[in-house]
Amino acid sequence: MLIRTPEAFAPLPSDITPRRVWQQRRRLVQAAAAGVALPAAGGVAAQSGKPERKLPAQASAFNTMEKQTPYKDVTSYNNFYEFGLDKGDPVRTAGALKTRPWTVSIEGAVGKPMTLGIEDLLKLAPMEERVYRMRCVEGWSMVIPWIGYSLSALIRKVEPTGQAKFVEFVTLNDSAQMPGLRSSVLAWPYVEGLRMDEANHPLTLLSFGLYGELLPNQNGAPLRLVVPWKYGFKSSKSLVKIRFVEKQPLTSWNRSAPQEYGFYSNVNPEVDHPRWSQATERRIGEDGFLGRKRATLMLNGYADQVAGLYTGMDLRRQF
Ligand code: MTE
Repeated sequence: MLIRTPEAFAPLPSDITPRRVWQQRRRLVQAAAAGVALPAAGGVAAQSGKPERKLPAQASAFNTMEKQTPYKDVTSYNNFYEFGLDKGDPVRTAGALKTRPWTVSIEGAVGKPMTLGIEDLLKLAPMEERVYRMRCVEGWSMVIPWIGYSLSALIRKVEPTGQAKFVEFVTLNDSAQMPGLRSSVLAWPYVEGLRMDEANHPLTLLSFGLYGELLPNQNGAPLRLVVPWKYGFKSSKSLVKIRFVEKQPLTSWNRSAPQEYGFYSNVNPEVDHPRWSQATERRIGEDGFLGRKRATLMLNGYADQVAGLYTGMDLRRQF
């Protein structure tokens, strides 16, 4: 079991929320709790039958105070290969994805397998805002105010058995809605995986929204994983299945190019990708293509919280 110690959560200077900001957030949370202006999480608009976009959330202790990437960049510069290979494809082609009704099957080595609808998942635990640094394996990064709760809240509900050593995350695989599935760049469905202790770490987020609203389709609606100390491709989108297994899952990227994408894929400036350095990154919306790049931080700046998960491992070999 993971024990949360205060030292393990000592924040970086850039991660300490100034008083003005948390007071403002507290006011928002109180307004939401009092039902002022903000609708309930996941509420369905009576008239249109469409889900409300607003997703109220309480402040959390897991925020970087670095400048947030503009909403426009977060929602128009995306990797979501099921909707095309170019960064601009998902915002153009994911709009028609039907995210209601939506169910997620939670199965495998668990005492209580279950299939949960999105409305139940939205109510499973209190929504928190988590402002995380995100680092893509391709060398760019963003700072995104996600909304969700720790995946551990869901894991507790299904009561994993002793055989559950890893968790597999499976994305929707529907060629009628996802034009990118025609491409053979990956074996579909998109599959990712975490070791059980990584999945249970409080930073690992099951996300339903960003910037105060439900997730736009191109960002992985209606729910996705967010693992901020790993390269972005570990954070799989539009989940339909979460499976608890004994053996390390064969993930999509590891299967297509094992020498380039390992199972762990922890952000590590000291371990280069075979075709490029991982020492620096370009912050989207901030550092121009020709501008100075910033240094990539070990475990994306979350080493104080998660380095303990990898004690004794050779991170060059188990990359
Ligand atoms: N999930 C699925 N199902 N399909 C994908 O192609 N791309 C990954 C990850 N999750 C991907 C995915 C990659 S490479 C990145 S960098 C992040 O999503 C991008 O998330 P964002 O578009 O919300 O920034």
